[in-house]
Amino acid sequence: MTNRTLAELGTPVVLLERARMERNIRAMQADCAAAGVKLWPHIKTHKMVEVARRQLAAGAEGLTCAKPGEAEAMLPSGVKRIFIAHSLVDVRVAPRLATLAGQLEELRVAATSPAQAEALARVAVAAGVKLKVMLAVDTGLGREGVRDAAAARAVAEIVGRFPQLKLAGCYTHEGQLYGAEPAAQRAQVDAVIDRLAAVRDAVDPDLPLWPGCSVTARHMLATGRVQVVRPGAYMFGDIALAVTTKVMPVADVAVHVLVTVVDRPEPGLALIDAGSKVFSSDKTAQGVHAMVADGRDIQVVRVNEEHGFVRGADVDTLRVGDRLRFIPAHICPVINLTDFVTVVEGDTVVDRWRVDARGRVD
Ligand SMILES: Cc1ncc(COP(=O)(O)O)c(C=O)c1O
Repeated sequence: MTNRTLAELGTPVVLLERARMERNIRAMQADCAAAGVKLWPHIKTHKMVEVARRQLAAGAEGLTCAKPGEAEAMLPSGVKRIFIAHSLVDVRVAPRLATLAGQLEELRVAATSPAQAEALARVAVAAGVKLKVMLAVDTGLGREGVRDAAAARAVAEIVGRFPQLKLAGCYTHEGQLYGAEPAAQRAQVDAVIDRLAAVRDAVDPDLPLWPGCSVTARHMLATGRVQVVRPGAYMFGDIALAVTTKVMPVADVAVHVLVTVVDRPEPGLALIDAGSKVFSSDKTAQGVHAMVADGRDIQVVRVNEEHGFVRGADVDTLRVGDRLRFIPAHICPVINLTDFVTVVEGDTVVDRWRVDARGRVD
């Protein structure tokens, strides 16, 4: 596989520009270190042991995972500390948590409401291991997390009843910032931290604050009020990060999808060999599933399973057989739809990495 050129690859294929990704990993780590903040990247975006290894080697303190399955898949990276940031409630997961805890120095789990905390306690008792508990606070996304100080105190009271559980911090996923214009981001980040800190102070002012989102990570460092950040998509990038929220340059986006123009059925329209089974159905607010990476006005504006519908001012420059690199609207599902990524340095293929936690939604 190595030392081939891009021209030898069939399409569609997900390309990972290794040097760009490594630069993005180092840059985030350096910014965290300069701010005295620990980095626990969320592996939901990359799902790859090879990427986790590089994040840990750069200095990441631990890894955040969505589910126990992602945590299990990341163990070969040598990770020592994992935070499973999801509402665990099923006692059937207890043996897996016990095994994970035995293979790690530290396993953190989430307490996301009083009802869930009761269920979590039953899981922890069944697992028979000590778990650090992160209190989830809703700071505007409207997903998991306590809505007010009373609910936070209720969660703390439940956690305090069980010797298996120890409250160890407050976290949030401020994903609503994906809708924030660059000029509005810092004020919204301040509001998120005000909210997170207010709920924390109602429980225990000594608990550390762990926000987590690639849009906010650097703004969070600038607040001087957080102890950990948990960005996920920052080392790859996508339209959401490079164009919509502009927190990274388009030239730093490290994953492209290489596709082929397979038909030109009418003026103004090209069809490519990648549709929803490659890009997923995710799109921007303007309805764009992917944009061409070379700066031309060419976008995937509709997807069927095996076809992408390509339009834009420059689409009539395309010929059947042309190959194009696209930046997806949202990178996470694109990685989860492929077994392997092809690792490249410019036009040279240098490796092929398995997406180890692909489909690990368990
Ligand atoms: C709980 C949690 N933490 C961290 C992240 C990482 O955020 P981002 O994808 O913006 O980097 C996510 C993303 O969905 C998340 O759900």
